[in-house]
Amino acid sequence: MHAPILDLDFIDNRTPEQAASCDTKVTADSNTGRQRKLYIESYGCQMNFSDSEIVSSILFEAGFDTTSEVNSADLVLLNTCSIREKAEQTVRNRLVQLNHLKKKKPNLVIGVLGCMAERLKKNLLEEEKMVDLVVGPDAYRDLPSLINEVDEGQKAVNVLLSREETYADINPIRLNSNGVSAFVSIMRGCDNMCSFCVVPFTRGRERSRDAHSIAREAQALVEQGYKEVTLLGQNVDSYKWASEDGSEKVNFAQLLEMVALISPDLRVRFSTSHPKDITDEVLYTMKKYDNICNYIHLPAQSGNSRVLKLMNRTYDREWYMERVDSIRRILGEECGISTDMIAGFCSETEEEHQDTLSLMDYVQYDLAYMFFYSERPGTLAARKLEDDIPLETKKRRLEEIIDKQRQYSLVRNQLAVGKVHRVLVEGFSKRSDEMLSGRNDQNKVVIFPRMHFKKGDYVDVLVTDCSVGTLFGEPVL
Ligand code: SAH
Ligand code: SF4
Ligand code: F3S
Repeated sequence: MHAPILDLDFIDNRTPEQAASCDTKVTADSNTGRQRKLYIESYGCQMNFSDSEIVSSILFEAGFDTTSEVNSADLVLLNTCSIREKAEQTVRNRLVQLNHLKKKKPNLVIGVLGCMAERLKKNLLEEEKMVDLVVGPDAYRDLPSLINEVDEGQKAVNVLLSREETYADINPIRLNSNGVSAFVSIMRGCDNMCSFCVVPFTRGRERSRDAHSIAREAQALVEQGYKEVTLLGQNVDSYKWASEDGSEKVNFAQLLEMVALISPDLRVRFSTSHPKDITDEVLYTMKKYDNICNYIHLPAQSGNSRVLKLMNRTYDREWYMERVDSIRRILGEECGISTDMIAGFCSETEEEHQDTLSLMDYVQYDLAYMFFYSERPGTLAARKLEDDIPLETKKRRLEEIIDKQRQYSLVRNQLAVGKVHRVLVEGFSKRSDEMLSGRNDQNKVVIFPRMHFKKGDYVDVLVTDCSVGTLFGEPVL
């Protein structure tokens, strides 16, 4: 079973189950009799999905129930992404559709949140006449008063970025959750200046959330029956928190340990690791705790040192390979590794593209998110470098990267065949209620017969077969 190819701008080899957790709408029903209804859709990365849960919580306190039915909403919020041009176009198209709805329902309030709001600021009001509200990622606490302004007939904007805001005290309302796994933001913003990337401009400076508030959130999730948390940040390895008096300092390895100790039944995942910052201390902490999953998302972006330098990634090919060697040495061959790759960055030659392919041969990634370069206004690359690789060439290189990845996804999945894997059940398989779907330690989707098992169970499954995106097996009884 191959994953559907969505388009040439965003292609990966995730299964539909994995893909459903990203780039889709997020919303859920909470019928507590509040006066107004919020419908919220999220685009982009997991941080945005996590933020939508914070927004829902803030607005719940302000008198909004959430609804999964856009037609019954009083307030529609799009939590948007600017990472590639295509991501913004998707939102623009959605706004046009929503405008039809607003014509039928003039009191409907339409707001844009997230990275596009931050990037385009009040231009978004002018550009997209149907938008009433523009709110950046650090201004969500202000939503209730901004909505009041809109109710009084004005347009409202708050795109102030903050150096402190982490929403540490907000108790997120879990949207579209399977009740088994949840995302927990541990930091916000990014201080790296990768030349292609818009995130530092849309999310502001990096800041780490209070370690104890993270542990409390994970503890509360365990008490609600959750079995897995994914700690989220653009660069989790640079997590660094200190108590106000400076007596207590927590780095990422220590945070991982704190969360892992909450319960041996709670699986701990994290994303994203930056190759320049991931330490052996983190790898040894992963090794020490069985419930920290053996899976690392370690985006390389390119396999060529000159291109990496232009990208301002601050590591080179050799450094990256050494980090992979350390992962294999400390955590073993079986540790899952995934990457992001960009095809056709400014001035990339054919040989340099070949270096990306040969890095893929070296690492043998389990999974990859693959894109062709899309110039983003205001970034270092847009200001200093020429976007000179023809679209056709970018697409061809991307296809070659995708072909290579399909090959290794299969190789890596075949390694799992014949072995018993501990699977955390997330729900029914997409195709049949007689089959369950869950993930193993390395983040691979495993499908197996339901028998007497249910969502949230850990099941030992003997893997008997695989495809590029999925493992298939039988429970070991
Ligand atoms: N913080 C993460 C990346 C977050 S953005 C990290 O440092 O790895 C997710 C991915 O989008 C990036 O890893 C990159 O592969 C891709 N991306 C970012 N900007 C892009 C651009 N301008 N064009 C194409 N892909 C881009
Ligand atoms: Fe963007 Fe680089 Fe920060 Fe990742 S680390 S969010 S790619 S600037
Ligand atoms: Fe997109 Fe913003 Fe995330 S640009 S990838 S939603 S941080």
